[in-house]
Amino acid sequence: MKKITDLDIANKRVLIRVDYNVPIYDEEVGNDFRIRASLPTIKHCLTMGASVVLMSHLGRPKGKVVPEMSLEPVAYALEEILDKDVYFSDDCISEQAIAFSKELKSGEIHLLENLRFYNGETKNDLEFAEKLSKHADIFINDAFGTAHRAHASNVGIQKFMKQVGAGFLLENERNYLSQAVDSPKQPYAVVLGGSKVSGKIELIKNLIESADKILIGGAMAYTFLKAQGKNVGASKIDEENLNVAKELLDLSDKKGVPIILPTDTVCAPEVTENTPWRVAVMEELEDDEMGLDIGPETCIIFETELQDSKTILWNGPLGVFEIPFFATGTQAVASAISRLTSEGAISIIGGGDTASAVEKSGMQDGFTHISTGGGASLELLSGIYLPAFEALDKND
Ligand code: 3PG
Repeated sequence: MKKITDLDIANKRVLIRVDYNVPIYDEEVGNDFRIRASLPTIKHCLTMGASVVLMSHLGRPKGKVVPEMSLEPVAYALEEILDKDVYFSDDCISEQAIAFSKELKSGEIHLLENLRFYNGETKNDLEFAEKLSKHADIFINDAFGTAHRAHASNVGIQKFMKQVGAGFLLENERNYLSQAVDSPKQPYAVVLGGSKVSGKIELIKNLIESADKILIGGAMAYTFLKAQGKNVGASKIDEENLNVAKELLDLSDKKGVPIILPTDTVCAPEVTENTPWRVAVMEELEDDEMGLDIGPETCIIFETELQDSKTILWNGPLGVFEIPFFATGTQAVASAISRLTSEGAISIIGGGDTASAVEKSGMQDGFTHISTGGGASLELLSGIYLPAFEALDKND
């Protein structure tokens, strides 16, 4: 795929698909990680004297105007971060919005309203895509979080633009995540967490092909432990996928890629802030106790297992990190990976919950790459050729 640096954007109008699908609370941006991640591409355009039109979706308004899903708060947040005016249009394809883009002067920024206020966006409707294309001369896709969707603003639009390319974020995400699948520096360890096995079956199968070991924590671990016939007390189990977990354990045996599971847990009778908790080895979990975090012994085992790694991929929190009593495992592993990164390992953190957990731990600067994509990073790591990349590759 062409990169932004392969295109002559000097003094041109550039339409950038960004992923500003960020949490909004009381009309304010709750987390600006994705906005900050889009800055290198925007700043590069401004330095080159281009004018910039930004477009994104927010939430799933299903083709209707939902005021709570307006991107206007993002315009204010971006203004503050850049210390620069950001013009906002309350529609993404209206004549006024397109005319406004055409009048932009070098160095000006125009953010369009939520693309998903139109059904044409998610339907990859070409008429809608063509209208979007009228905003600029050059199209840059920098929305990695949306790369697993074939929508009008990232795929359809390419039919109508003479020049298209990838922004710095998209390029970085592709490089780091593809490297984790295709050519990781060995030894290569993968840490997986999160709750459901179902969403991660293809991921685990794919990683067994490239990793040297896979460490599993989070609620998902209890499904694997149960599949091994171990006691898991009242821990949440993905019952439907017990057999799949067994098959994955067999596959890991066959391929000689150990799946390492927790030996102890921080457990409680319920998932609340005030619940009484204790540390227990798995065999001693009572029938009414569920595992809500990896225990201290497991933290030490995980840290030891990671010690020699040259590449570490981490996807999924290792406990209910939103509640402080059950965040210790996630923090301990974050801190171990961050230390190993400072000693030379490449660390790649999957997006979504893992990125939030890392941010909550305050260690976000300690990793080589934190992905902005939740579903997109999962699919890429599962070996899927993402539609946004396919479209850019075709246009190379
Ligand atoms: C995300 O947050 O994962 C992306 O912005 C994609 O959003 P979607 O799952 O609603 O398509």
